[in-house]
Amino acid sequence: MKERMEAHPEAVIEVRDLRRSFGSIAVVKGVSFTVDAGEVFGLLGPNGAGKTTIVKMLTTLLPPDGGEAKVCGYDVHRQAGRVRQCIGYVPQALSVDGSLTGYENLLIFAKILGLKKSEREHRIRELLAFMELADAAPRLVRQYSGGMVRRLEIAQAMLHEPRVLFLDEPTVGLDPVARKGVWERLLDLQQKYRMAIFLTTHYMEEAEAVCRRVGILDRGEMVVAGTPARLKESMGDPAASLDEVFAHYTGNRLSTGGNYRELKQVRRLSRRLG
Ligand SMILES: Nc1ncnc2c1ncn2[C@@H]1O[C@H](COP(=O)(O)OP(=O)(O)OP(=O)(O)O)[C@@H](O)[C@H]1O
Ligand SMILES: [Mg+2]
Repeated sequence: MKERMEAHPEAVIEVRDLRRSFGSIAVVKGVSFTVDAGEVFGLLGPNGAGKTTIVKMLTTLLPPDGGEAKVCGYDVHRQAGRVRQCIGYVPQALSVDGSLTGYENLLIFAKILGLKKSEREHRIRELLAFMELADAAPRLVRQYSGGMVRRLEIAQAMLHEPRVLFLDEPTVGLDPVARKGVWERLLDLQQKYRMAIFLTTHYMEEAEAVCRRVGILDRGEMVVAGTPARLKESMGDPAASLDEVFAHYTGNRLSTGGNYRELKQVRRLSRRLG
Protein backbone atom coordinates (compact mmCIF):
# COMPACT_ATOMS: atom_id res chain seq x y z
CA MET A 1 0.00 0.00 0.00
CA LYS A 2 1.15 3.50 -0.74
CA GLU A 3 2.73 5.18 2.25
CA ARG A 4 0.97 8.36 3.39
CA MET A 5 2.83 11.63 3.33
CA GLU A 6 3.71 12.77 6.86
CA ALA A 7 1.77 15.81 8.06
CA HIS A 8 3.91 18.93 8.33
CA PRO A 9 1.82 21.59 10.10
CA GLU A 10 3.66 24.66 8.80
CA ALA A 11 4.13 23.43 5.23
CA VAL A 12 2.16 25.02 2.37
CA ILE A 13 3.93 22.89 -0.25
CA GLU A 14 4.68 19.22 0.42
CA VAL A 15 6.23 17.22 -2.38
CA ARG A 16 7.28 13.61 -2.16
CA ASP A 17 8.84 11.47 -4.83
CA LEU A 18 7.25 13.58 -7.56
CA ARG A 19 7.73 12.23 -11.07
CA ARG A 20 6.92 13.21 -14.64
CA SER A 21 7.95 11.86 -18.01
CA PHE A 22 7.34 13.06 -21.55
CA GLY A 23 7.13 9.96 -23.71
CA SER A 24 9.96 7.72 -22.60
CA ILE A 25 12.03 10.57 -21.17
CA ALA A 26 11.89 11.06 -17.39
CA VAL A 27 12.10 14.80 -16.75
CA VAL A 28 11.29 14.92 -13.01
CA LYS A 29 12.74 11.88 -11.28
CA GLY A 30 11.40 11.50 -7.74
CA VAL A 31 11.74 14.97 -6.23
CA SER A 32 10.91 15.67 -2.56
CA PHE A 33 10.84 18.92 -0.58
CA THR A 34 8.63 21.13 1.57
CA VAL A 35 8.05 24.87 1.66
CA ASP A 36 6.79 26.51 4.85
CA ALA A 37 4.07 29.14 5.19
CA GLY A 38 5.46 32.62 4.54
CA GLU A 39 8.78 31.28 3.23
CA VAL A 40 10.56 32.33 0.01
CA PHE A 41 11.93 29.22 -1.69
CA GLY A 42 14.03 29.35 -4.86
CA LEU A 43 14.31 26.46 -7.30
CA LEU A 44 17.59 26.71 -9.21
CA GLY A 45 18.91 24.51 -11.98
CA PRO A 46 20.38 24.55 -15.50
CA ASN A 47 18.17 24.97 -18.59
CA GLY A 48 16.06 21.86 -19.05
CA ALA A 49 16.54 20.64 -15.45
CA GLY A 50 12.76 20.33 -14.96
CA LYS A 51 11.96 23.52 -12.98
CA THR A 52 9.02 24.66 -15.11
CA THR A 53 7.69 21.10 -15.22
CA ILE A 54 7.64 21.08 -11.40
CA VAL A 55 5.96 24.50 -11.28
CA LYS A 56 3.33 23.30 -13.77
CA MET A 57 2.59 20.23 -11.65
CA LEU A 58 2.33 22.29 -8.44
CA THR A 59 0.01 24.79 -10.13
CA THR A 60 -2.24 21.94 -11.40
CA LEU A 61 -1.50 22.59 -15.08
CA LEU A 62 0.24 19.28 -15.65
CA PRO A 63 -0.67 16.01 -13.91
CA PRO A 64 2.21 14.22 -12.19
CA ASP A 65 2.68 10.59 -13.14
CA GLY A 66 4.12 9.49 -9.85
CA GLY A 67 4.56 10.56 -6.24
CA GLU A 68 2.54 13.07 -4.32
CA ALA A 69 2.30 16.86 -4.14
CA LYS A 70 0.12 18.94 -1.84
CA VAL A 71 -0.32 22.69 -1.91
CA CYS A 72 -2.17 24.31 1.02
CA GLY A 73 -2.90 20.77 2.18
CA TYR A 74 -4.69 19.80 -1.06
CA ASP A 75 -3.55 17.21 -3.56
CA VAL A 76 -2.57 18.91 -6.83
CA HIS A 77 -4.21 16.21 -8.92
CA ARG A 78 -7.28 15.06 -6.98
CA GLN A 79 -8.13 18.48 -5.49
CA ALA A 80 -6.94 20.75 -8.29
CA GLY A 81 -9.81 23.23 -7.86
CA ARG A 82 -8.99 23.78 -4.19
CA VAL A 83 -5.32 24.24 -4.99
CA ARG A 84 -6.13 26.88 -7.62
CA GLN A 85 -8.09 28.90 -5.09
CA CYS A 86 -5.11 29.21 -2.78
CA ILE A 87 -2.33 29.92 -5.30
CA GLY A 88 -1.23 32.69 -7.62
CA TYR A 89 0.93 31.95 -10.66
CA VAL A 90 3.13 34.16 -12.81
CA PRO A 91 4.30 31.92 -15.66
CA GLN A 92 7.60 32.03 -17.54
CA ALA A 93 5.74 33.30 -20.65
CA LEU A 94 3.77 36.53 -20.80
CA SER A 95 0.41 36.39 -18.95
CA VAL A 96 -1.17 39.78 -19.64
CA ASP A 97 -2.77 41.18 -22.81
CA GLY A 98 -0.87 44.05 -24.42
CA SER A 99 -3.92 45.31 -26.27
CA LEU A 100 -5.79 46.04 -23.03
CA THR A 101 -5.06 48.58 -20.31
CA GLY A 102 -3.54 47.52 -17.00
CA TYR A 103 -6.87 48.08 -15.30
CA GLU A 104 -8.78 46.01 -17.90
CA ASN A 105 -6.35 43.11 -17.52
CA LEU A 106 -6.96 43.04 -13.78
CA LEU A 107 -10.72 43.42 -14.17
CA ILE A 108 -10.98 40.42 -16.51
CA PHE A 109 -8.93 38.29 -14.15
CA ALA A 110 -10.94 39.40 -11.12
CA LYS A 111 -14.09 38.26 -12.93
CA ILE A 112 -12.51 34.93 -13.91
CA LEU A 113 -11.45 34.41 -10.29
CA GLY A 114 -15.03 35.07 -9.17
CA LEU A 115 -14.32 38.09 -6.99
CA LYS A 116 -17.58 39.73 -5.91
CA LYS A 117 -18.46 42.94 -7.74
CA SER A 118 -18.41 44.85 -4.45
CA GLU A 119 -14.82 43.83 -3.64
CA ARG A 120 -13.43 43.86 -7.19
CA GLU A 121 -12.87 47.58 -7.61
CA HIS A 122 -11.33 48.03 -4.17
CA ARG A 123 -8.97 45.11 -4.60
CA ILE A 124 -7.84 46.19 -8.10
CA ARG A 125 -7.19 49.77 -6.95
CA GLU A 126 -5.35 48.55 -3.85
CA LEU A 127 -3.05 46.29 -5.89
CA LEU A 128 -2.42 48.90 -8.59
CA ALA A 129 -1.37 51.36 -5.90
CA PHE A 130 0.72 48.78 -4.09
CA MET A 131 2.56 47.81 -7.29
CA GLU A 132 3.05 51.50 -8.17
CA LEU A 133 0.91 51.21 -11.28
CA ALA A 134 -1.97 53.53 -10.38
CA ASP A 135 -0.94 56.21 -12.89
CA ALA A 136 -0.29 53.66 -15.64
CA ALA A 137 -3.60 51.79 -15.10
CA PRO A 138 -5.53 53.51 -17.94
CA ARG A 139 -2.69 52.98 -20.46
CA LEU A 140 -2.34 50.06 -22.88
CA VAL A 141 -0.01 47.40 -21.51
CA ARG A 142 1.94 47.28 -24.78
CA GLN A 143 3.25 50.74 -23.84
CA TYR A 144 4.53 49.53 -20.43
CA SER A 145 8.20 48.96 -19.62
CA GLY A 146 9.33 45.41 -18.80
CA GLY A 147 9.32 46.09 -15.06
CA MET A 148 5.80 47.51 -15.21
CA VAL A 149 4.53 44.45 -17.12
CA ARG A 150 5.98 42.14 -14.49
CA ARG A 151 4.48 44.18 -11.66
CA LEU A 152 1.11 44.01 -13.41
CA GLU A 153 1.40 40.24 -13.81
CA ILE A 154 2.14 39.94 -10.11
CA ALA A 155 -0.85 42.15 -9.24
CA GLN A 156 -2.97 39.88 -11.45
CA ALA A 157 -1.76 36.78 -9.63
CA MET A 158 -2.46 38.42 -6.25
CA LEU A 159 -6.11 39.42 -6.80
CA HIS A 160 -7.56 36.62 -4.67
CA GLU A 161 -4.92 36.92 -1.88
CA PRO A 162 -3.21 33.57 -2.46
CA ARG A 163 -1.31 31.84 0.33
CA VAL A 164 1.35 30.70 -2.14
CA LEU A 165 2.66 32.62 -5.13
CA PHE A 166 4.49 30.76 -7.91
CA LEU A 167 6.89 32.78 -10.05
CA ASP A 168 8.70 31.13 -12.97
CA GLU A 169 11.74 33.30 -13.77
CA PRO A 170 10.06 36.51 -12.61
CA THR A 171 12.86 38.88 -13.59
CA VAL A 172 14.14 37.39 -16.85
CA GLY A 173 14.89 40.09 -19.42
CA LEU A 174 14.67 42.96 -16.92
CA ASP A 175 17.41 45.49 -16.27
CA PRO A 176 18.88 45.66 -12.72
CA VAL A 177 16.77 48.66 -11.69
CA ALA A 178 13.54 47.05 -12.90
CA ARG A 179 14.50 43.78 -11.16
CA LYS A 180 15.05 45.62 -7.91
CA GLY A 181 11.67 47.35 -8.29
CA VAL A 182 9.89 44.04 -8.87
CA TRP A 183 11.52 42.44 -5.83
CA GLU A 184 10.87 45.37 -3.50
CA ARG A 185 7.16 45.22 -4.32
CA LEU A 186 7.07 41.42 -4.13
CA LEU A 187 8.76 41.19 -0.75
CA ASP A 188 6.46 43.87 0.65
CA LEU A 189 3.48 41.84 -0.53
CA GLN A 190 4.97 38.69 0.94
CA GLN A 191 5.39 40.38 4.33
CA LYS A 192 1.97 41.97 4.25
CA TYR A 193 0.11 38.74 3.52
CA ARG A 194 2.61 36.27 5.07
CA MET A 195 2.49 34.55 1.71
CA ALA A 196 4.92 31.87 0.63
CA ILE A 197 6.78 32.47 -2.64
CA PHE A 198 8.06 29.63 -4.81
CA LEU A 199 10.29 30.94 -7.58
CA THR A 200 12.67 29.71 -10.22
CA THR A 201 15.59 31.83 -11.34
CA HIS A 202 18.93 31.72 -13.12
CA TYR A 203 20.17 34.77 -11.19
CA MET A 204 22.18 33.48 -8.24
CA GLU A 205 22.61 36.84 -6.53
CA GLU A 206 18.86 37.34 -6.73
CA ALA A 207 18.25 33.92 -5.18
CA GLU A 208 20.70 34.66 -2.39
CA ALA A 209 19.14 38.05 -1.68
CA VAL A 210 15.51 36.96 -1.50
CA CYS A 211 15.30 33.24 -0.69
CA ARG A 212 15.37 31.77 2.78
CA ARG A 213 16.07 28.37 1.23
CA VAL A 214 17.02 27.21 -2.25
CA GLY A 215 16.94 23.83 -3.96
CA ILE A 216 19.25 22.88 -6.81
CA LEU A 217 17.64 20.71 -9.46
CA ASP A 218 19.83 18.90 -11.95
CA ARG A 219 18.53 16.64 -14.70
CA GLY A 220 15.27 16.08 -12.85
CA GLU A 221 16.76 15.39 -9.44
CA MET A 222 16.96 17.67 -6.42
CA VAL A 223 20.65 17.38 -5.64
CA VAL A 224 20.64 19.61 -2.57
CA ALA A 225 18.31 21.99 -0.68
CA GLY A 226 18.75 24.31 2.28
CA THR A 227 19.66 27.87 3.24
CA PRO A 228 22.38 29.39 1.04
CA ALA A 229 24.68 29.43 4.10
CA ARG A 230 24.02 25.73 4.75
CA LEU A 231 24.75 24.84 1.11
CA LYS A 232 28.08 26.68 1.22
CA GLU A 233 29.04 24.79 4.38
CA SER A 234 28.00 21.51 2.78
CA MET A 235 30.59 21.98 0.02
CA GLY A 236 33.19 22.88 2.63
CA ASP A 237 33.54 26.57 1.72
CA PRO A 238 31.44 28.99 3.82
CA ALA A 239 32.92 31.91 1.84
CA ALA A 240 31.79 30.51 -1.53
CA SER A 241 29.34 32.39 -3.73
CA LEU A 242 26.03 30.80 -4.68
CA ASP A 243 27.36 30.68 -8.26
CA GLU A 244 30.13 28.41 -6.99
CA VAL A 245 27.67 26.28 -5.03
CA PHE A 246 25.57 25.95 -8.18
CA ALA A 247 28.57 24.97 -10.30
CA HIS A 248 29.70 22.49 -7.63
CA TYR A 249 26.36 20.70 -7.41
CA THR A 250 25.55 20.72 -11.11
CA GLY A 251 29.01 19.36 -11.93
CA ASN A 252 30.33 22.45 -13.73
CA ARG A 253 28.58 21.22 -16.83
CA LEU A 254 28.01 23.57 -19.69
CA SER A 255 24.28 24.16 -19.99
CA THR A 256 22.46 22.47 -22.86
CA GLY A 257 20.58 25.74 -23.32
CA GLY A 258 17.08 24.30 -22.97
CA ASN A 259 14.93 23.43 -25.94
CA TYR A 260 13.75 25.49 -28.86
CA ARG A 261 10.25 26.01 -27.49
CA GLU A 262 11.54 27.43 -24.19
CA LEU A 263 14.14 29.59 -25.86
CA LYS A 264 11.59 31.00 -28.22
CA GLN A 265 9.29 31.79 -25.30
CA VAL A 266 11.98 33.52 -23.30
CA ARG A 267 13.29 35.45 -26.28
CA ARG A 268 9.82 36.57 -27.27
CA LEU A 269 9.15 37.55 -23.68
CA SER A 270 12.41 39.45 -23.34
CA ARG A 271 11.75 41.28 -26.57
CA ARG A 272 8.25 42.28 -25.53
CA LEU A 273 9.37 43.23 -22.06
CA GLY A 274 12.49 45.03 -23.20
N1 LIG B 1 5.41 19.25 -23.13
C1 LIG B 1 6.61 18.70 -23.27
N2 LIG B 1 6.84 17.69 -24.12
C2 LIG B 1 8.06 17.12 -24.23
N3 LIG B 1 9.14 17.50 -23.53
C3 LIG B 1 8.99 18.51 -22.67
C4 LIG B 1 7.73 19.17 -22.48
N4 LIG B 1 7.88 20.13 -21.53
C5 LIG B 1 9.17 20.08 -21.18
N5 LIG B 1 9.83 19.11 -21.83
C6 LIG B 1 11.26 18.75 -21.66
O1 LIG B 1 11.48 18.54 -20.29
C7 LIG B 1 12.76 19.03 -19.89
C8 LIG B 1 12.59 19.99 -18.73
O2 LIG B 1 11.93 21.14 -19.18
P1 LIG B 1 11.57 22.34 -18.21
O3 LIG B 1 10.86 23.33 -19.04
O4 LIG B 1 10.86 21.82 -17.02
O5 LIG B 1 13.03 22.84 -17.79
P2 LIG B 1 13.47 24.15 -16.99
O6 LIG B 1 14.32 23.69 -15.84
O7 LIG B 1 12.29 24.98 -16.67
O8 LIG B 1 14.40 24.90 -18.04
P3 LIG B 1 14.64 26.48 -18.32
O9 LIG B 1 15.63 26.94 -17.29
O10 LIG B 1 15.23 26.51 -19.68
O11 LIG B 1 13.32 27.19 -18.24
C9 LIG B 1 13.37 19.66 -21.13
O12 LIG B 1 14.25 18.75 -21.69
C10 LIG B 1 12.20 19.88 -22.04
O13 LIG B 1 12.57 19.81 -23.37
MG1 LIG C 1 11.66 26.89 -17.19
